[in-house]
Amino acid sequence: MLAKALTVLSLSFGVLAAPTVLQSRSPSSISDLALQKVLSDASPVFGYYTTKNTKYSTWMSKYSDSTQLIHLNIPGAHDPQTWNYSQATQEALKHVTDLDGNPPLPAEVYRCQEKSFIDMLSAGIRVFDIRYAFDVTNSTLVYWHSQGLLSETATVEDTLFGFYTWLDAHPTETLMLSFQYEGSTTLYGTNDANVQLQLFNLLTSAAAKKYFLQTSNAFGTLGEARGKITLLKRFDMDQLPASYSNLPGVHFSPSLWTDDDPDITLVYDTVRNATAYIEDYYETDVGNGASAAYNIALKYNATTSHLLKAANPTYRDSLFWSFASSENDVNTPIDTPKIMAVGNGTYTPLGGVNQQLVPFFRRMKGKRLGIVMFDFFDTPGELVESFLDVSPA
Ligand SMILES: *[C@@H]1O[C@H](CO)[C@@H](O)[C@H](O)[C@H]1NC(C)=O
Ligand SMILES: *[C@@H]1O[C@H](CO)[C@@H](O)[C@H](O)[C@H]1NC(C)=O
Ligand SMILES: *[C@@H]1O[C@H](CO)[C@@H](O)[C@H](O)[C@H]1NC(C)=O
Ligand SMILES: *[C@@H]1O[C@H](CO)[C@@H](O)[C@H](O)[C@H]1NC(C)=O
Ligand SMILES: *[C@@H]1O[C@H](CO)[C@@H](O)[C@H](O)[C@H]1NC(C)=O
Repeated sequence: MLAKALTVLSLSFGVLAAPTVLQSRSPSSISDLALQKVLSDASPVFGYYTTKNTKYSTWMSKYSDSTQLIHLNIPGAHDPQTWNYSQATQEALKHVTDLDGNPPLPAEVYRCQEKSFIDMLSAGIRVFDIRYAFDVTNSTLVYWHSQGLLSETATVEDTLFGFYTWLDAHPTETLMLSFQYEGSTTLYGTNDANVQLQLFNLLTSAAAKKYFLQTSNAFGTLGEARGKITLLKRFDMDQLPASYSNLPGVHFSPSLWTDDDPDITLVYDTVRNATAYIEDYYETDVGNGASAAYNIALKYNATTSHLLKAANPTYRDSLFWSFASSENDVNTPIDTPKIMAVGNGTYTPLGGVNQQLVPFFRRMKGKRLGIVMFDFFDTPGELVESFLDVSPA
């Protein structure tokens, strides 16, 4: 697999339009080889880096520099790191996850995507919902989704280099990376001072300082943000001295983000009274026996109510962040993220949340909807297209 990854990398760096960071040096310089090594380590989560472009690779180029980020419709991926979490992947990591005595449930419970980070970037996804925790030895920040470990080798830092490399090659685009500590991961895992210190170091490294916008609790214009990352802080640094909270980015404190709530109002900058409206109704949680179609209708209603509010000019200068992703794992049989997003055949004649959103998006053409996070964003194929087509000019 390593050999395959390096072939893909050297082909794409050597023949196709190479990222500018690499063009300035000879293709075999030690720094190129080091980057190739990092990207290869990142591949179980990031996917195999490629410079292939699609019509959505540079969709932000059609908006002017003065556009406010909060006025754009920006597609995001919920739990993107789970894209390759099949039963085979779970099995391959069993020797690691078994170490903490907290084995994962079937893979379909955790899986929320099917395309890699690099494919998401090519398909127009610009917001990534990153979930981190320590590996089972308490040494490195890696990707989890609850008890599901996504890779033993792809660290969060490795994948950041994937984003940096991609941004160098796509300077018209901007990304938002949301970081959230996954609370129910390894049996003994806690969001302790060591975890917070590692996160701090990661987000203040020389590379991070170059790519993360160094502004605080403000969304700038597209012009300021192109080629850069806005950090969305869904974490507190509450186990460390106060100076460690002094990170750039926009703070969505977990203490203000009420759980499973369809309509959160969160003031992220009290001085300016800058407000975010968030729909994060992820667990429809209706009692045993409710049909998948009913659960999907509940979630579709919560999402579209929030999007109608986003489109209301009264709220134009607030951030809207809606999650179209959901599940119901207390139900029997369970409604997996996939069933909720894309339906379950004849059980769901109207499809999942995603299919039902397509005509809604087409009806909302020209309206501001804000950030919308999807599960299985690539199904149906026209979902992201229908969403981007509604972007206000
Ligand atoms: C995806 O998972 C399969 C099964 O575990 C594995 O063989 C494959 O290498 C993984 N893909 C990547 C890009 O790591
Ligand atoms: C990891 O840290 C937790 C405390 O947060 C501790 O209970 C556990 O034993 C540690 N694991 C290892 C392998 O050191
Ligand atoms: C803050 O902004 C919110 C939403 O725009 C508004 O409802 C609220 O009245 C404002 N509060 C103050 C103190 O201005
Ligand atoms: C969803 O909203 C529609 C229209 O308001 C309503 O008829 C339907 O009962 C709602 N569905 C659920 C499951 O609440
Ligand atoms: C989904 O469909 C399968 C049959 O393909 C069925 O066994 C299962 O119970 C369905 N689950 C839900 C939640 O509808």
